[in-house]
Amino acid sequence: MSTMVMTGGTSGFGAIAAGRLRCSGENRLLLGARNDPRPGSSCLPLDLADLGSVRAFANAVREELGDTPVDALVLNAGLVLADVARRTPDGFEKTFAVNHLAHYLLLRLLMPALGEGARVVLTTSGTHDPAMGAGLTPPRHADASLLAYPDRDPGLHDHPRKAGEHAYTASKLCALLTVRAMTEEKEMRDKGITAVAYCPGQVFGTGLAQDLPFYMRVVWSLMGSPVLSRPARRFDPTLNTRADAGDTLADLASGDARTPEGRVYAALRRGQLTWPEPSDVACDTNAARTLWQQSAELVGLPG
Ligand SMILES: NC(=O)c1ccc[n+]([C@@H]2O[C@H](COP(=O)([O-])OP(=O)(O)OC[C@H]3O[C@@H](n4cnc5c(N)ncnc54)[C@H](OP(=O)(O)O)[C@@H]3O)[C@@H](O)[C@H]2O)c1
Repeated sequence: MSTMVMTGGTSGFGAIAAGRLRCSGENRLLLGARNDPRPGSSCLPLDLADLGSVRAFANAVREELGDTPVDALVLNAGLVLADVARRTPDGFEKTFAVNHLAHYLLLRLLMPALGEGARVVLTTSGTHDPAMGAGLTPPRHADASLLAYPDRDPGLHDHPRKAGEHAYTASKLCALLTVRAMTEEKEMRDKGITAVAYCPGQVFGTGLAQDLPFYMRVVWSLMGSPVLSRPARRFDPTLNTRADAGDTLADLASGDARTPEGRVYAALRRGQLTWPEPSDVACDTNAARTLWQQSAELVGLPG
């Protein structure tokens, strides 16, 4: 029996992954969510936009599990917003707070509960890499003090949508840098814990576009239909189905997909799991260490 803790398992390809992990009968899955739409199902309350809720969730997980170690921690939740205008109750820009800071805090709080050989999976995105030319504004930096308070960022885009895209792509760069920083943590090395940043490629038709303007939601939804997505996938290797993205996330969580020695970046291409070298920006060890320290300060933990 494997014990798993997951965020982002209520919608999109995360719901497919959660469904598969539950069905195997060999896993105990603790899902953190604002609400779980499945009738009769239960999950532990978690709103990643509120660090108090993250702390309460970590306590609830520890209470529920007692001495049972966590075998897999899957940090998949995420959002995209149309701008950087929204603030969390803690005062942070919302995309950065939900996608990075809350997951960082959860990871730190649950690290002691991770068992020997546990797996940690953070969902990232190829859009973090300026070289991908993915169409979204690429990250200029992963400076947590500026991402948390974008009004202080001298390079903040004038155009709200571009600023919103930057908040998203930078938060996904933070996921990769967090994985890199984790591999340097003594606790992680001593327990032989594997940390992976997972890029599902482009997966249309999920709930990710729900906060974007109407026309973008329509395109997102249409592109997720089999009629349009099937031919498009032939031309673009980064396009994947929700089923493939969810199954692969489940494989990474369960350990069915083994992480090759020294690899930290898993990317789904043409429905196949690949292990490319991370982008140049994601290999910056100094940026990774700085992000770890700055994030600790923002959530009130020692570095
Ligand atoms: N779709 C893509 O093309 C793509 C590409 C690269 C990376 N990704 C990443 O993949 C992950 C899953 O995305 P998706 O496309 O499957 O989108 P999705 O359907 O919108 O799923 C997002 C998940 O995050 C949860 N979530 C959002 N805000 C939350 C909050 N404040 N507290 C707790 N949970 C929250 C959602 O919960 P609710 O059900 O409560 O809303 C949902 O379970 C995200 O991290 C996304 O950035 C997606």
